[in-house]
Amino acid sequence: MPRPIVVIGSSNTDMIVQLDRIPAPGETVLGGRFSTAAGGKGANQAVAAARAGGQVVFVARVGSDSFGNQALAGFATDGIDTRFVFRDSSVASGIACIFVDRNGQNSIAVASGANMRLTPGDIAAAEDAIAQASVVLLQLEIPLETVVAAVDIASAHRVPVILNPAPAQSLPDGLLAKVSILTPNEIEAGMLTGISVTDEISAKAAAQILRSRGVAAVIITLGDRGSLLSGCDHAAMIPAFKVKPVDATAAGDVFNGALAVRLSEGHSIEDAVQFASAAAAISVTRLGAQPSAPRRKEIEEFLGK
Ligand code: RIB
Repeated sequence: MPRPIVVIGSSNTDMIVQLDRIPAPGETVLGGRFSTAAGGKGANQAVAAARAGGQVVFVARVGSDSFGNQALAGFATDGIDTRFVFRDSSVASGIACIFVDRNGQNSIAVASGANMRLTPGDIAAAEDAIAQASVVLLQLEIPLETVVAAVDIASAHRVPVILNPAPAQSLPDGLLAKVSILTPNEIEAGMLTGISVTDEISAKAAAQILRSRGVAAVIITLGDRGSLLSGCDHAAMIPAFKVKPVDATAAGDVFNGALAVRLSEGHSIEDAVQFASAAAAISVTRLGAQPSAPRRKEIEEFLGK
């Protein structure tokens, strides 16, 4: 039985409007359909990892409000250990407003609320769980100092770290040097390196820069063109699975959650990327963040086709 996966990050409630097209600044577009779904990059990754077969401990902060209650109920349904999901009565739970267009593309605005009050002290409270983890998975919707504290603790206990640098922000080399696998999408890879990442060649160049800053391995996700995997001895493109997109929201989160599970089971990184790509492809065919995360059986059936 693999050791637990510790996911540290944000939890949001997503307010989704599906529209023919995303409004330009100053424009009003009618005809949308509204729904809500559980979201937040950290929570999406935790749920995706749990459904993909991982034993997940989630470290997060939510408000003492109904959105926080709903989030906790959802984590319990997915069997996630929520001992380190802290409640905060001084600020609201995080929310996101998401527009999804007819091609499944989105734009997202986030009011972080309690997510930005997750402190290094909260991470220290979870140190024993981190020390026992097979892998720690993080994103950037919580304070950077908290991310740094978590990576320091994981590194001190020799626990591998996957950092999904989303949304992108500049990162200190001291942090990158402790990251085992960095998983930007093309936009994030571009923002981190100054290279416009549009294809395999530019992705390889960006990955090389990130590796020269100390990251052990880089996986750049390029949407329906697949993923560029750059490790110490090789770089390879792993193709994406072709699906009819409904909503790309959380595809990257599902990819990261499934990746962590497969790696924690001792599979190769190439195999883990393939598994994660299948999980992400399934998620793109469904509306909403956490509702779109597939279960292990579905991923295996998809891969078997
Ligand atoms: O990655 C998708 C997520 O980003 C959404 O669920 C939203 O909450 C934002 O955090």
